Amino acid sequence: MRVVSGIQPTGNLHLGNYLGAIRQWIAMQDAMGTEDTCLFFLADLHALTQPVVAAELAANTIEMAATLLACGIDPDRSILFNQARVPAHAELAWLLGGTARIGWLNRMTQWKDKAGKNREGQSVGLFTYPVLQAADVLAYQATHVPVGDDQKQHLELARDIAAKFNTDFGVELFTQPEPFISAAAPRIMSLRDGTAKMSKSDPSDASRINLIDDDDLIAQKLRKARTDSDPLPETMKELEGRPEATNLVTIYAALAGRAPADVLVEFAGQGFGQFKPVLADMAVSVLCPIRTRLTELLGDRGAVAATLESGANRARALAAPTLLAAQQAIGL
Ligand code: ADP
Ligand code: NA
Repeated sequence: MRVVSGIQPTGNLHLGNYLGAIRQWIAMQDAMGTEDTCLFFLADLHALTQPVVAAELAANTIEMAATLLACGIDPDRSILFNQARVPAHAELAWLLGGTARIGWLNRMTQWKDKAGKNREGQSVGLFTYPVLQAADVLAYQATHVPVGDDQKQHLELARDIAAKFNTDFGVELFTQPEPFISAAAPRIMSLRDGTAKMSKSDPSDASRINLIDDDDLIAQKLRKARTDSDPLPETMKELEGRPEATNLVTIYAALAGRAPADVLVEFAGQGFGQFKPVLADMAVSVLCPIRTRLTELLGDRGAVAATLESGANRARALAAPTLLAAQQAIGL
């Protein structure tokens, strides 16, 4: 198996990012055999589809890499790098731009959602983003790509581009990547509003637990999390209609690596006055070691940059034969 996955370098990662995304990467890494490879990249080229503040992009890239390392990405087992340092991504994206059709891109729901009514005012990059995504995975002959619901259409497009390129140029070059279905990632909701997702763009800092929050702040935010006054029931079914309560049980379960139903078996009958301190202890026990490593790593940003550079060297070597073969197929 060769698994390729990217994440945009944004600042201020939170518990939702950790439980919903980063931890899935750690699980993939841990599931790989000796013949398998995971490539994880910071999608700094994709970040260009939106307005960029140069100093922030650079800092976010290092901070995101440090966060991934702190969460358990092992640069000896996985290849961790940033996209911009492997020119094959951009080069192959250009080559595939000859294969992808405008009609295909016009059908992408993310493009339609993000561009809204102002299509003419969007960057070209926002429109062609899915072609770069195709290059991201095809450059490495990825066999599997982890995808959430929102990315399924883009993976389909990558498969279509791979197939059309192979047909058009009469080659068996690109592997068609399959979606990698991992254990369902939990969706973590805001601590202030159980129906909104926990997000860095929420103006209320109390709505989320940031990976850099200290132990006291974590406990305080969980203590103040909005809930109802009913005790925890015995089954998940009985939690329906109680989004805040459901969210706290979901968070506990995800942190503990247990099923929510199993958590209810243990805590049924308890009110949030009892459950929240237990949840806070659980959160601190998971997040404190991550924050400690993250702080250490951020104390030596040069070392993080060096880790990314050595990942990029390995990634360049893996992508080179495919890029060359693609050029030759086209007649370049
Ligand atoms: P944000 O919503 O904070 O801007 P991003 O959109 O940058 O987060 O998402 C980065 C990754 O983290 C994505 O894989 C996304 O699915 C995941 N993620 C973000 N928020 C949550 C959440 N509240 N629960 C679960 N996963 C999340
Ligand atoms: Na977002």
